[in-house]
Amino acid sequence: MEAKYLGIIEDIKDKMANGLLTTGSKLPSVRQLAEQFSCSKNTVIRAYNELEKEHFIFSIPKSGYYVVNKLEQPTTSQYVVDFLSAGPDKTIMPYIEFQHCINQAIDIYKEELFSYSDQQGLYSLRVQITKYLQSLQVFTDPDRLFIVSGSQQALHLLVSMPFPNGKSNILIEQPTYFGFIESVHLHQATTFGIDLTMEGIDLERLEYIFRNNDIKFFYIVPRFQNPLGHSYTNAEKRKIVELAEKYDVYIVEDDFLGDLDPDSKSDPLFAYNPSGRIIYIKSFSKVFLPGLRVATVVLPTIMMNHFLRYKFSADFNSAVLSQGALDIYLKSGMFNSHIKTIKALYVGKMKALQEACESLLPSHTNFTKPVSGFYLSIVLPDNVSAKQTVHLLKNKNIFMDDASRMFLPEFKRDNLIRLSISQVDEQFIHHGIEELAQCISSLERKKPYPNTIHLL
Ligand SMILES: Cc1ncc(COP(=O)(O)O)c(C=O)c1O
Repeated sequence: MEAKYLGIIEDIKDKMANGLLTTGSKLPSVRQLAEQFSCSKNTVIRAYNELEKEHFIFSIPKSGYYVVNKLEQPTTSQYVVDFLSAGPDKTIMPYIEFQHCINQAIDIYKEELFSYSDQQGLYSLRVQITKYLQSLQVFTDPDRLFIVSGSQQALHLLVSMPFPNGKSNILIEQPTYFGFIESVHLHQATTFGIDLTMEGIDLERLEYIFRNNDIKFFYIVPRFQNPLGHSYTNAEKRKIVELAEKYDVYIVEDDFLGDLDPDSKSDPLFAYNPSGRIIYIKSFSKVFLPGLRVATVVLPTIMMNHFLRYKFSADFNSAVLSQGALDIYLKSGMFNSHIKTIKALYVGKMKALQEACESLLPSHTNFTKPVSGFYLSIVLPDNVSAKQTVHLLKNKNIFMDDASRMFLPEFKRDNLIRLSISQVDEQFIHHGIEELAQCISSLERKKPYPNTIHLL
């Protein structure tokens, strides 16, 4: 019964999204759908009630059910091509299923969900996450896991905390995730950068920095990096871990999109030193629901007490209702099937974006080519500014991100734009890139400049 009624909901939403059911159209009668899905009329009524509650459809007594259709495509004049938003694709967020998990969590945990709770996080959730992490090649136990209010909180706390190596500086890839740069700026932490391209980092340079710059930790996004989309090879990851050990440097590994990796042989850095050197962070924001504010950190034993003090002084514990509901969602197996669905979705969108870039962008405009993830970056010709490009496209309802804030001041560049595929409607990708290509060509005509191109 459970699966059938969800199947009906999904089928109707798909038809709405694909334009097969448009605003005002009448839905099949309860009897017709019951026959089509070989289920009882009650199952169909339950599905219709859910859709009505979410305002996708409405009913007229004695007449039937009709489409409101929040998923209907906008007309051309309303197009918004959103390469900017970096939350997960809203059309596949499992709201209804999760609503059931929230209700069940309240039934099961009762008052525990609404009082102060274990500072380290609900134990049963930590058990579930520990099991899930095995699919990402992270083998650990629940006692080393800490639930935090989003991975941003973990990063913020780690920047401010003293580390067992007694060192004080931080090393980051350049460019990198803006939220981390904000954190180091706010804490006035001395920060070094190392250039990252799609070919990786210069490992000799890394060794030089580890040896000479009193590095407390290296913050690294190992897969589908934000903003480039870069992923390290296993050999590179192994080497980075070796160097970290040699020079007593910690690694903060932000595996925010590891779940989307189609390569089952790709390891996190954690796999090369599971017990002491690597702090592994896994967010549930990009692949699930960012509003839950739930992420997890796996810490070396030596850092656990200290981290707990910092976490306690920040917020006591993370929201327990979110934790309880996520626990049930993971236990039910729904999370694994959700991951399967989104993996295929993002690989498809990324492919469509790269095909559009390949065929439409001027030949001397480079772009990164990740196999999945959310982000791809475009390197504009040197005489074309990212700021200006982003501004001009905004006037055409096409939104992209100028990546200049993702650099430390001494690495700053104004020719990189970041595109996120997570919320863009696949059918508008071609149009968005066509407009970008025209914009680049017209800006180039205005400011001719020698052919210097930064290769990523
Ligand atoms: C690389 C990276 N790490 C961490 C975060 C923060 O995510 P969370 O919602 O888990 O705090 C983001 C958000 O965009 C991100 O891009």
